[in-house]
Amino acid sequence: MTMRISPFIAMLGLVLVSPLKAATPMTGTVSIDLPPQTAQFKPGTGVDLVQKDCLICHSSEYVSTQPPLTAEQWRGEVVKMKKVMGAPIEDSNIDAIVNYLVTQYGKK
Ligand code: HEC
Repeated sequence: MTMRISPFIAMLGLVLVSPLKAATPMTGTVSIDLPPQTAQFKPGTGVDLVQKDCLICHSSEYVSTQPPLTAEQWRGEVVKMKKVMGAPIEDSNIDAIVNYLVTQYGKK
């Protein structure tokens, strides 16, 4: 009698365990969805430059959360990004970038 029941018990054990195993895989990859980045630079002349030169390192919120800065202060930021942070900003674009920043996020 015992000999006949044990395969049945073994089967029962498998049936009980397998849904658990399926629900909690121990290996393999897991995919997650990140919320979309919604912050954007304000549209305006030169926005293409800041999109190209600034977004490679950080979001536009680094700019939009600053208090309104003067042109000289924005120039200081842009030069700092280039010289200290290593941003690949072409010298010939600095004036246009500063102009964009002071127009959209500056002290008028
Ligand atoms: C090579 C990477 C890099 C690029 C490109 C870059 N930044 Fe930054 N930026 C940083 C880092 C790193 C910080 C954070 C510095 C800190 O926390 O002290 C920062 C911080 C800032 C801040 C916050 C104030 C400050 O000085 O910390 C502003 C404003 C800013 N960046 C503007 C810009 C603008 C405008 C551009 C494009 C012209 C730009 N950044 C491109 C790396 C970069």
